[in-house]
Amino acid sequence: MNQIGIIGSGAIGKAIAHLAVDAGIQVTIANSRGTETLTDLVADLGANAHSGTTQEAAAFSDLVVLAIPLAAYERLPHAALNGKTILSTGNYYPHRDGRIQVLDTHEMTTAELEQTLLPGARVVKAFNNIVAHHIPLLANSEPRTALPVFGDDPRAKDEVTDLVRALGFHPIDAGSLSESWRAEPESGAYTAIYAEGPDGFGDDYLADRGRPLTADELEKLLAASHRPDVAARKF
Ligand SMILES: NC(=O)c1ccc[n+]([C@@H]2O[C@H](COP(=O)([O-])OP(=O)(O)OC[C@H]3O[C@@H](n4cnc5c(N)ncnc54)[C@H](OP(=O)(O)O)[C@@H]3O)[C@@H](O)[C@H]2O)c1
Repeated sequence: MNQIGIIGSGAIGKAIAHLAVDAGIQVTIANSRGTETLTDLVADLGANAHSGTTQEAAAFSDLVVLAIPLAAYERLPHAALNGKTILSTGNYYPHRDGRIQVLDTHEMTTAELEQTLLPGARVVKAFNNIVAHHIPLLANSEPRTALPVFGDDPRAKDEVTDLVRALGFHPIDAGSLSESWRAEPESGAYTAIYAEGPDGFGDDYLADRGRPLTADELEKLLAASHRPDVAARKF
C-alpha cells in the first residue's frame, strides 16, 4: 500500500498520517471543516501529504482510514467508499454519539454497526484500543507494540494488517468484527494495557509515556477479555 486516504484529522487521524508519511506512504487527509483548515497540518506532514474533501480522500486509495466519531458515518461520501477497505478506529461514546440501542443490547459490536452503515465497503477495526498520544511514542518500539486487527473480509484484513505493520506496530489477527468487543472501551484489552506501569493510567493519562506490549501479552489479554456492559457506559 503506497497511498491511503484519511478522513478525520483529529488526534488519531493526525497520528496515523504522521506515521504514514514517515513510512513513505502518500496521504490525502480530510476533515469536516474543509481543506483550508488543514493547511498547517499538511505543511507539517510534508511532501507526501495533501488535503482534500472527504470525497477526494475516499477516492485517493483502495484503503481509507476513518478516524471520526460514530455519528459522522451517516455524512460520509458513501458512493466513493463503495468497494473500499476501511480501517476504522472508532469507538462508541454515548455522551458524544447518542445512545445506540443495537450497541447497548450487544446485538452488534461497534465495528459491526459501522459495517452496516457502509454496506459497500469492507470494514476492519484497528487503532481503536490505543490512546492517540501513545501512537507516535510506541510506533517502531523494540519489541514492536502489538495491536489487534478485527475483520470479516480476509483480503481487507490482510491490507490493514500490512498497513499496521508498515506504520511500526505488530498486527495481531484478533478475529471477526463480532469479536471486536474484546478491544472495545472497558474490555480487558483497551488503552490502559499500553500504560507505562502495571496499574494502568495515573491521574494524568496524557503524561503516560506508554510501554511496548508484546504479541504474546496482547493475545493473553484478548483471550481473557470480558464483554463490557455497554448500556451502563456513562462516557
Ligand atoms: N483520541 C483517542 O485517544 C482515541 C483512541 C482510540 C480511538 N479513538 C476513536 O477514534 C475516532 C477518532 O477519534 P479522535 O480522538 O481522533 O477524534 P477527534 O480528535 O475529535 O477528531 C475527529 C475528526 O473527525 C472529523 N469529522 C467529524 N465529522 C466528520 C464528517 N462528517 N466528515 C469528515 N470528518 C469528520 C473532525 O473534523 P474537524 O476537525 O473538521 O472537526 C475531526 O478531524 C473516534 O471514534 C474515537 O472514539 C480515539
